[in-house]
Amino acid sequence: MSLHKEETECVTVPDRNTAKKMLAWYRKNHRELPWRRDRDPYHIWISEIMLQQTRVAAVIGYYTRFMTELPDIPALASVEEERLLKLWEGLGYYNRARNLKKAAAEVMDRFQGRFPETYPEILGLPGIGAYTAGAIASICYDEPTPAVDGNVLRVYTRLTGDASCVDLETTKKDIRERLTAVYKEALPKERGVLTQCWMELGATVCVPNGTPLCGACPLKETCVAFRTDRTGELPVRGEKKRRRVEERTVFLFLCDGKVALHKRPESGLLAGLWEFPNVMGHLTLAEAMEQAERWGLQPSMPRMEVPYTHIFSHVEWHMRAYMIDCGHMADDLNKVGGIKWFLRKELEETAAVPSAFQPFRNLLKSGEEHS
Ligand code: ADE
Repeated sequence: MSLHKEETECVTVPDRNTAKKMLAWYRKNHRELPWRRDRDPYHIWISEIMLQQTRVAAVIGYYTRFMTELPDIPALASVEEERLLKLWEGLGYYNRARNLKKAAAEVMDRFQGRFPETYPEILGLPGIGAYTAGAIASICYDEPTPAVDGNVLRVYTRLTGDASCVDLETTKKDIRERLTAVYKEALPKERGVLTQCWMELGATVCVPNGTPLCGACPLKETCVAFRTDRTGELPVRGEKKRRRVEERTVFLFLCDGKVALHKRPESGLLAGLWEFPNVMGHLTLAEAMEQAERWGLQPSMPRMEVPYTHIFSHVEWHMRAYMIDCGHMADDLNKVGGIKWFLRKELEETAAVPSAFQPFRNLLKSGEEHS
């Protein structure tokens, strides 16, 4: 680790020494994770896409199920989209899953089923950006390509005392370039481990929420944020946009042991997933009944009303759900269209329903034995 000679300015530049300390720390302290058992690019690719915006603990089960059902690129390229979305159900950002299938098809067509081995070719696949391409190229092919995500930005800016705003693309690019120099100095066989080191340190020591565990950090002697007591100030972030609030009324229509679901449009938020029919605004009980009648469903008085708020990154849905038994199984609901009636078993096993509606689905599941 070299400190610039003006110690008072407290600037640190990660170098070969930093890398050595990190590698030694990683060897002793890393977690055993299912995607760390080999360097198969398929394994690394799927895990890195799942790990974007999602914690390791939540990903492990998804990853394991995914690999059991779709163990290789040909399997992913030919999976039905409905099944793929079901495997992804609850992970969110469903375009990630669609892009996986698209990219797998491209690997089959353009690369004869062999995952490409160079950074530019990997970067050219659908859904793969600089972060994922850097992770795959370094971990699987020893390329000097760092993978700069939120974890790495946090460790890097604290270590170096860099107060640039980490939400700016220019900052990410700049840090990627600086880290590339460190990777080039490393032995090829160390590069993939270095990628894992930066992420692991960010995930387990220089943690995202709450106080970092500086006492356990292999870089504490030289970390600028630690030495100047600024871990709370770094990394510097831009102003968060306020989330838009939307009120919705959700209908849990039951008829003959079946439940109505509506397929969301093929583009936009939660594209192509199944949801419970819903309208904008909070309807009163009487208005909800009128709405169900207009849809031709012969509704009984709602069994219950359930409030639930779901928070997406950019919008909050404040929902009010009515559970309503119906005497008629309309499949168009006039303007809603795209309605299908599912047996409860199918609701569990085949329909991909986003997390925003899970509490309602659970409610139907728990009420199953009483209906
Ligand atoms: N976060 C993103 N990628 C990761 C990885 N490979 N291991 C652990 N945490 C991660």
